[in-house]
Order: sequence, then structure tokens, then C-alpha cells
Amino acid sequence: MPSRESRPVVGPVDIHTLQRDGRGVGRLGARTVVVSQAYPGDSVITRVDVETKSVFQGRVKRVVASTATRRPSPCAHADWCTGCPYLGVDRDAEIGWKKGFVEDEARKQGIELPDGWRFETPTSPYEWRHFAKQIFGLRDGHLVLGSYVQGTHVVVDNARCSVLVPELQVLLERVVAAARHVEARPDNVGSPGLLHVLARASRVGGQSQLVIATRDPSGADALAIFEKIVPLDPELVSGWVLIQETPSNNLLEGRALHVHGFRDLTDTLLDVECRIGPASFFQANPACAETMFREAVERAGAGRSALDLYSGVGILAVGLAKRFERVTAVEAVEEAASLIAKNAAKAGVSVDAVHADVETAVDLLLDRGPFDVVVADPPRKGLGPRGTHVVTRLAPVRLVLLSCDLSAWGKDARTLADSGYKLASFSVYDAFPRTAHVEVLSVFERV
Ligand SMILES: C[S@@+](CC[C@H](N)C(=O)[O-])C[C@H]1O[C@@H](n2cnc3c(N)ncnc32)[C@H](O)[C@@H]1O
Repeated sequence: MPSRESRPVVGPVDIHTLQRDGRGVGRLGARTVVVSQAYPGDSVITRVDVETKSVFQGRVKRVVASTATRRPSPCAHADWCTGCPYLGVDRDAEIGWKKGFVEDEARKQGIELPDGWRFETPTSPYEWRHFAKQIFGLRDGHLVLGSYVQGTHVVVDNARCSVLVPELQVLLERVVAAARHVEARPDNVGSPGLLHVLARASRVGGQSQLVIATRDPSGADALAIFEKIVPLDPELVSGWVLIQETPSNNLLEGRALHVHGFRDLTDTLLDVECRIGPASFFQANPACAETMFREAVERAGAGRSALDLYSGVGILAVGLAKRFERVTAVEAVEEAASLIAKNAAKAGVSVDAVHADVETAVDLLLDRGPFDVVVADPPRKGLGPRGTHVVTRLAPVRLVLLSCDLSAWGKDARTLADSGYKLASFSVYDAFPRTAHVEVLSVFERV
């Protein structure tokens, strides 16, 4: 991996606008320059990571002149990591830009936002993240855990990442120390080796679950790390090794070995004590999700039947089951789908869990319907044309939609409006402070 100093440098570049992904944009001759942690009003010398005929993409090497909203970053990797583009700016400025991007998207799609729509900031901008996905790499010959620089396969060291909860910061530091001690190597450095880790800490209880993925067919490198860290960390209650002998973009694909403690982690959200398996989705910012889910369930109302699409381990479904006589939940990951009924039973309610892709489940759902209300919390790509088709075929009176990508929300909102659904309420949650992402909670009613 090239060291940070060996990258080409350009500038100064005057930054004139901010892209929706939080990066500043300027011009240098015929080229557009896109810079992480640079903001309108800044002039920056830029370290270039990606160069094409028309674009330089990179990070700030030095600020020559700075906008009044620039602030010193508390993160040790601020000039190096591209995960949090708003790290170097005042929080109010970040919120102002994010609100502006929301209004732009609504305008672009011809969707009228209700007057007084809310932008909620329920959590601290730091130490909110209870889930880490980090990649093993080498820096100056030493093994590190970190993330890719945007648009590249260069791994930057993320030790003590400032948006992670402290217990995960410590856990990942221990993983790196143990890996160095047992002389484990990242993959593709001579022989098959360590790929990545997935680490989760529960908000209630502060316990953690760790998955170490490796290309080593025996898993010996990952097992040696567990041997070192387990005696140091009584809060590490669930450990897995994932052997991925064939390359895959799916971080969870491979042969999973349960190597320590419980199979699942337990956490509580929306008063639901739930089990979370290593392959199951769970909210990265549970404190924010708690407030947002409470609003989602309240806006769903109460009545005879509700459907929770993309339900994960079923938190929203269980919340709905306290208000509706009959609740069905649909989830594609088998492990998560199998936990829904258990999590519901623990909460003293019942949910009919369906293990299926939403997009192919329409006939089955038409049989189980009708549903008064549908709640949908799809992955980043949103409902898309196929997901919205399922919802409109089911024709609920109300749809509560959670969207973690603004552009996907815009497209879904447009399709829903064209299918006879009117936007009735709208809030945005700053669920991922300092990053470019937000969560949109929108309610549509059939007209
Ligand atoms: C954003 S998460 C929401 C989960 C849940 N609402 C929660 O907060 O715990 C999206 C969920 O959809 C699931 N999923 C992804 N694609 C799917 C599909 N095509 N059909 C059904 N579920 C899917 C994922 O496994 C994940 O659990």
C-alpha cells in the first residue's frame, strides 16, 4: 500500500459547492476536484487518490484558507479516513447542508414536503456507532484494521474511530494487538489470510459479538486471535470465525464456525429484548433507532392487521403486534427470519414470520392479507420498482416507509405518488452523524 506521502498533490483548490455525499467540489483547469472534508469557502491542497481525465478525487493535505464553519476534528484519522466527510465542520453547518439535500431531493421528484417537517438529531455526533465493519490491511508493514479510502482499495487505519462506541474501539484495538502478536497477516500478503471483522456492541448491557473473516481454510489465524482476546474481555459474549475461501462481495458469505460463548447477542430496542445472530441486520445507531421506531409504530396506528417488510429480527413487527391484532413479517436472511418468532414470544406477542424476498412474496402476501398498514424498512437501494409494486398490489391504507438513502427515498416517493399514495408525514433522523447518510421516515396514505 502506498504511504500517504507518496500520493500526488494538487492545489490550492477553491471549494465552491458541497456534493450530497458530503465532499467539497472545486475546479482546477479542466478538471473537477472532489475532496473529502473540504467545504465551500475553503481553499485546500489536495492529496489525490483517484485521477481520471476529468476528475481529481482526494483528501485534504493542507487547508490554505478556511471557511468560518471549519472546526478542529477530534478524530486522529481526520486527514486520512474518508468515512465521515463532516468531521471537519461545525455541526450546525452539517445539519443545514443535510436539510438542504433533503429539500433538493423532494423538489427534484416533485414531492411536496409537509410544512414544519422535522430534522431530528437524537444522539451525540460521536460514539454512536454500535456496529463496525473493518478491513484488515497493512500500513508501513504493520497490520491494521480500517476502511477503504473512497473509490480505492487502500485501507486506512481506523484505530479509535471516533464515531464508534468506546467498547468497540477497545475490542478492535485488542484484535489488532492479538493479530500482530500471533503474526497473522492480511489476505493476499503472501498467503491466504485475514479479511475483515464485524463487531457489534449491545446498547443495553454493553456486551459484544465478534466475527473474524479469513481466507485461511483452517481458520487458524482467526482462532489464534480469539484465544488471545477472550481472556481479556468478559463482555465479548459471542464469537465467530467466517472462512471465505472464494472471493465474495458479501461480507457474510462463507463457512461460519461458532468459536466462543453464545450464538447470538442480546439487545433491547423499543422495549423488545431481542436476539441478534451474526448474519442478522441490527441498527448501527440503536439510540436513534429507538426514537425513530417509536415514531414509526405510533404513525402506523392500530387496528386489525399490519405487515412489516424487510423486518430483520422483527423489532418493528413486535412493536406493531402490541397495537394490531395480526402481524406478518417478511425477511430474506434465514437466520434473522428464524429469530422473529422467538423475539416476539419473549415480548409476549405473536408475529407470523415469513422467510422470503419481498419482491417474490406478493402472491403469498395477498393470500395472508388484507393488511391495513404496511411498514417497510428496506436496505439502502430502497423499495425500488419491484418493492413498490408489492406494496401497491397489497393496497394498504397507510405505508410507513423508512429509507436510509435519500435518492432511493426520492424515487420510491415518486413511484408511490404516481400509484395513488400521498405523503402525509415526513421526518428525517440524523442517524449517522458526521457521515453523509440520513434516515427518512415518511408516511403515505392511499387517496
Ligand atoms: C435496513 S434493514 C431493516 C431491518 C429491521 N427493520 C431492523 O431495523 O432491525 C433491511 C433488512 O432487509 C433484509 N432484506 C434485504 N433484502 C431483502 C429482500 N429482498 N426481501 C426481504 N428482506 C430483505 C435485510 O436482511 C435486513 O434485515
